[in-house]
Amino acid sequence: MNIYFDEKEKIFHLQNKNMSYIMQVMEGGYLVHLYWGRKIKEYHKSNPIIFVDRGFSPNPDSNNRTFSLDTIPNEYPAYGNGDFRNPAYQLQLENGSTVTDLRYAKHEIYDGKRKLKGLPAVYVEDKNEAKTLEITMEDKAIGLTVILSYTIFEKFDALTRSVQFKNNGSEKIKILKALSASVDFRSSEYDVLTFHGAHTNERNMDRRPLVSGIQSVESRRGASSPQNDPFIALLEKNADEDCKEVYAFNFVYSGNFIASAEVDQFKNTRVSMGINPFDFSWILGQKESFQTPEVVMVYSSKGLGSMSRTYNKLYQSRLCRGKFRDTVRPILVNNWEATYFNFNADKIVEIAAEGKKLGIELMVLDDGWFGKRDDDFSSLGDWIVDKNKLPDGLKDLANRIHDIGMNFGLWFEPEMVSENSDLYRSHPDWCLHVPNRPHTFGRSQLVLDLSRNDVCDYIIEAVSKVLSSAPINYVKWDMNRHMTEVGSAKLSPERQRETAHRYMLGLYKILEELTSRFPEVLFESCSSGGGRFDAGMLYYMPQTWASDNTDAICRLKIQYGTSVVYPISSIGAHVSTVPNHQVGRITPMNIRGHVAMSGNLGYELDLTKLSEEDKELVKLQISTYKEIREIIQFGDFYRVLSPFDGNEAGWNFVSKDKSEMVGYYFNILAQPAAASRILKFKGLDENTLYENIATKEAFYGDELMNVGLSIPIIREDFSSLMWRFKKIK
Ligand code: DGJ
Repeated sequence: MNIYFDEKEKIFHLQNKNMSYIMQVMEGGYLVHLYWGRKIKEYHKSNPIIFVDRGFSPNPDSNNRTFSLDTIPNEYPAYGNGDFRNPAYQLQLENGSTVTDLRYAKHEIYDGKRKLKGLPAVYVEDKNEAKTLEITMEDKAIGLTVILSYTIFEKFDALTRSVQFKNNGSEKIKILKALSASVDFRSSEYDVLTFHGAHTNERNMDRRPLVSGIQSVESRRGASSPQNDPFIALLEKNADEDCKEVYAFNFVYSGNFIASAEVDQFKNTRVSMGINPFDFSWILGQKESFQTPEVVMVYSSKGLGSMSRTYNKLYQSRLCRGKFRDTVRPILVNNWEATYFNFNADKIVEIAAEGKKLGIELMVLDDGWFGKRDDDFSSLGDWIVDKNKLPDGLKDLANRIHDIGMNFGLWFEPEMVSENSDLYRSHPDWCLHVPNRPHTFGRSQLVLDLSRNDVCDYIIEAVSKVLSSAPINYVKWDMNRHMTEVGSAKLSPERQRETAHRYMLGLYKILEELTSRFPEVLFESCSSGGGRFDAGMLYYMPQTWASDNTDAICRLKIQYGTSVVYPISSIGAHVSTVPNHQVGRITPMNIRGHVAMSGNLGYELDLTKLSEEDKELVKLQISTYKEIREIIQFGDFYRVLSPFDGNEAGWNFVSKDKSEMVGYYFNILAQPAAASRILKFKGLDENTLYENIATKEAFYGDELMNVGLSIPIIREDFSSLMWRFKKIK
């Protein structure tokens, strides 16, 4: 890995063993993008920009009609001086104008990667893991500098980008738009991949050919949200899981975002990503700076599978932090679907005791333990134990769970306040609101104004108090509504549009503080299921509840889609009861177990009500999972059959040293005249002899990958198969 700078040609070449990224400072100081893709040894300008007079494309020099910012690949495009495509940023000056002009000033190359102050970001543990280039661009007329940061990694085919604006001038600058990355591709022959979803239906894959104009996904909901993910990728036309080029962008941010691909008049494609400029602005006073969050760009020449493994490994090892980053995760039972709000201490202990017999390691008490929370109309904000349900308090309950031999976890929703709560009654101005406008409710609750320091301090202290009061080993951090009436009582009128981003900075500050105060606690994020499953959250909490939909069949798509970017170790997956509470489907315990074992296994049902037969199956699932969880959570994941293509799904996990493999096949509905099916595993060592642990049959890796295994004819709906292979030679 290196970053080269050719002084004479003013060309930057960022390179690691598989990938090159090339830019040039052109005459006049314009920074242009030349190449991103498979590694090349040296760049000798084989793809010069062709300068022609394009009608209607404006020229900075009236005597040279062939040069236009509208037709060159700009690295961080401006608005107002010729480029009519999507700008990467837009500023408003005191005179009302929105025209700016950035030119190259200087650059710095250094080993390692700096932290982004107050923001989540990929990090390095040793400065030899990455190299960083910081290019300083200047608009001399207004004293603005913009630092474009690029980090390339030794071990990952990834590049991170972020941008810092600094006002060194004498006037206030209003940032209207400040994206984190923009890349101009000199082709539009791609498919674009994004995700869409909803509560209980997260991360569905959308792949379609690019067309002229802008295609984008975004969030205006105040959270990254389940509606669209902060992700976009361009795929070579026939790229699949294993072949062809993929260029992916993922945003390390949990708030409003935009990700777009614009095909221009000349069939170039501009991909851009950053904070959504919708309802956003930021006042930059003299000497102030503004740091954008980070975009992680991944290149793969071997299809989507390899792209995912890059994201998975990078995020697992250099985005997630803390004690649990490298530790196998506990198998938990959560009481939500078992009891909802209707529980008491004895009931929780009863579930835990049954869980212990089955091998479960952590009992999680969900919503309803505080205030007067017998339904979801009250008490958020009042983080004081409800003595009606837990008469001897939390400490006593936690101790009883520990006495059984299990760890104890607790649910919080700290970002929210119920109108019916002591907190709201004493601080009605602590929620996001706009003067003289009625509140809009979501789940009958309001969003606390995390742009305020006093509110953040309250949350830190209130949660700390509970966590210090009892032996609590795990926190489920929930967030169950999106933002409306986005305004803060503490901000001046001209700063109101900073509220949503300041909220995110406040949230990140709270999470940084709490996770540092309680390093022994495993934090799992949640937002009505997987409604804020993003890289920003993973920096603070290494796992996320993937969906409130626990139906095994729906989960096939949800977990498959989630694995495209996020590590398996981050995907919370629970076995629940049947008929399923979200869709009413009745599926066998076998498939429910196999789907949940493909993530971070947990249970979410009343274990005391399981039949003896199901208890035996659950016991087996748990003991098996304990043997394989290292491979599932920390091995390599290969998608084999996509549930988005029809009636089946399949995937396999391979241990880091390729000595073990776990494979799964899922068949949704039994078919008449069922086709003969072969499942070909991926990622094995072709020269290793693997033995099927159950049948003792042995095959070399090349046979398992190229010939594959026959799937028996399936005569039952909702069937699944699991294989475990171990190296014997
Ligand atoms: C939404 C979460 O996704 C659920 O798992 C559960 O914790 C409820 N909130 C509790 O209110």
